[in-house]
Amino acid sequence: MTILTIIEHPNEVLETPCEKVTTFDKNLVKLLNNMYETMIAADGVGLAAPQVGILQQVAVVDVEDENGRIDLINPIVMETKGEQTDIEGCLSFPNLYGDVTRPSYAKIKAQNKRGKYFIIEARGFLARALLHEIDHLNGVLFTSKVSRYYEESELEG
Ligand code: CO
Repeated sequence: MTILTIIEHPNEVLETPCEKVTTFDKNLVKLLNNMYETMIAADGVGLAAPQVGILQQVAVVDVEDENGRIDLINPIVMETKGEQTDIEGCLSFPNLYGDVTRPSYAKIKAQNKRGKYFIIEARGFLARALLHEIDHLNGVLFTSKVSRYYEESELEG
């Protein structure tokens, strides 16, 4: 596997909506594995393909819960409920953290690496992570949703 270079803001690739994946082949599996490896190496909980310069609807999420690694291809948010506000960051914005309000529940339909459809119902932090990555695929960055930024002194400890 290969650690990919994570594109940092500002870069127009981060604000460009991604194309749907139509070919489910070895290259897609390789991309997913490399993205996952890159995310882990960067100590992140999610990574979207535009963050490695690829404008395709591909993302990986792993919040270290019982779901483990989740590969998201062509994801669609089918339903959301509730509201949660909490601190959020992004691998494309090193050392930038802010409060973001998102739904507390999300029902998402996506395809796996073989093109098979699945539905995931997520709450809390997993819902936040999935919705953050799906925003990336639409060219939407978390900074457009931050209600307040944290100072470095607030983040210590
Ligand atoms: Co991000």
